[in-house]
Amino acid sequence: MSKPTIFSAPKGIPDYVPPGSGGFVVVRDGLITAARRAGYAHIELPVFEETGLFARGVGESTDVVSKEMYTFADRGGRSVTLRPEGTAGVMRAVIEHGLDRGALPVKLCYSGPFFRYERPQAGRYRQLQQVGIEAIGVDDPALDAEVIAVADAGFRGLGLTGFRLELTSLGDATCRPHYRELLQEYLLGLPLDEPTRERARINPLRVLDDKRPELRALVADAPLMINHLSDSARAHFDEVLSHLDALGVAYTVNPRLVRGLDYYTKTTFEFVHDGLGAQSGIGGGGRYDGLMAQLGGASLSGIGFGLGVDRTLLALTAEGVDLAGPGGCDVFGVPLGDAAKARLVAIAGQLRAAGLRVDLAYGGRGVKGAMKAADRSGARYALVLGDRDLAEGTIGCKHLETGEQWSIPLADVVGELSAKLDEGGADVRIR
Ligand code: HAM
Repeated sequence: MSKPTIFSAPKGIPDYVPPGSGGFVVVRDGLITAARRAGYAHIELPVFEETGLFARGVGESTDVVSKEMYTFADRGGRSVTLRPEGTAGVMRAVIEHGLDRGALPVKLCYSGPFFRYERPQAGRYRQLQQVGIEAIGVDDPALDAEVIAVADAGFRGLGLTGFRLELTSLGDATCRPHYRELLQEYLLGLPLDEPTRERARINPLRVLDDKRPELRALVADAPLMINHLSDSARAHFDEVLSHLDALGVAYTVNPRLVRGLDYYTKTTFEFVHDGLGAQSGIGGGGRYDGLMAQLGGASLSGIGFGLGVDRTLLALTAEGVDLAGPGGCDVFGVPLGDAAKARLVAIAGQLRAAGLRVDLAYGGRGVKGAMKAADRSGARYALVLGDRDLAEGTIGCKHLETGEQWSIPLADVVGELSAKLDEGGADVRIR
């Protein structure tokens, strides 16, 4: 008989397995916590949507839409796409559920997988994980500063330090079209190769984002949006900067910052970490004041970010930050014999109901193997129960780090271990 095929995950799609998966949860939850502190409510969205939503929302000329979407026909022949990003889906849901007719701003946060058919490499996956927030319906520079400060606090709360924030203004409907024309005229006057010339025709701003050194040198004197802002866009940007100063958020204005999605207006930003090689963007976002109307909703403004959970985890690892994360347990039960096992299974249930994390030695292992498993589990205490203990109505307890051992009356085991773990710090409790 031939051996069955061994499957592996699709190319570029990461698994999150223990022990590293604990760090993944810490990063995701840490970034979400920062958003919750600023009043962002949870939104959970489908992982696929009608293809047209992304084509119209993110922009046909972006790489994300033109080259990277996972698009397929479902069994009913409808074209659907695995979400490449979160903002368009949030807008769709806000319009569909009429949230835009309630109190403004609508402040939402989300986390989960997104899908982009990119060339996989370190820090660039085809299924990537983001934590995102969106604040919709109020065009106030203080809200721009809040969104940026939430990202900054999220990273810092995890212990990350070696990153910088770059930001710029991409102008608004009154000044951007004029600037676009100016830039296009300038670019088309340069000796560009044909694909770049075509890009200059379709999306001239993207040409400024080209990484090739020779092209960078060629466009060194290109006009920059920041020098062609309307008075109101300039005032908006200046106010964002002064709020960031007041919040103590450090930044660098980078007038050449270009983002890969078409919907951005005014404030646009990116968090960059230098310990990650080419994929240095750990998060980014900006204002998207025309998006809602473009998707058929009210003419409301919006601002938000997407933070890369995978890259933040890599950045923390590069900085040597230890992320233990949940997993493991507080108490490990070692039964010696069948009667003891039956009793310990019940005790484990009671301890779990009291909020302790409890595991047992299953499979009738000898005491030596079971104690080894207890050590490996990371638990603070082992509970050892044999026939003699049962007869005496007690259970043996061992502090696995110090080796100290004592007996507890069976009736007191839940109370005593709960109290001991509370003394040891509430971090181990999951109630
Ligand atoms: P984005 O810049 O395309 O923005 O993605 C946000 C972050 O997701 C990036 O900074 C990066 O950390 C991470 N990321 C993107 N692609 C990959 C990949 N292939 N592998 C690993 N990580 C990746 C957005 O998606 C916008 N929706 C953000 C936003 C929300 N703007 C306004 N509101």
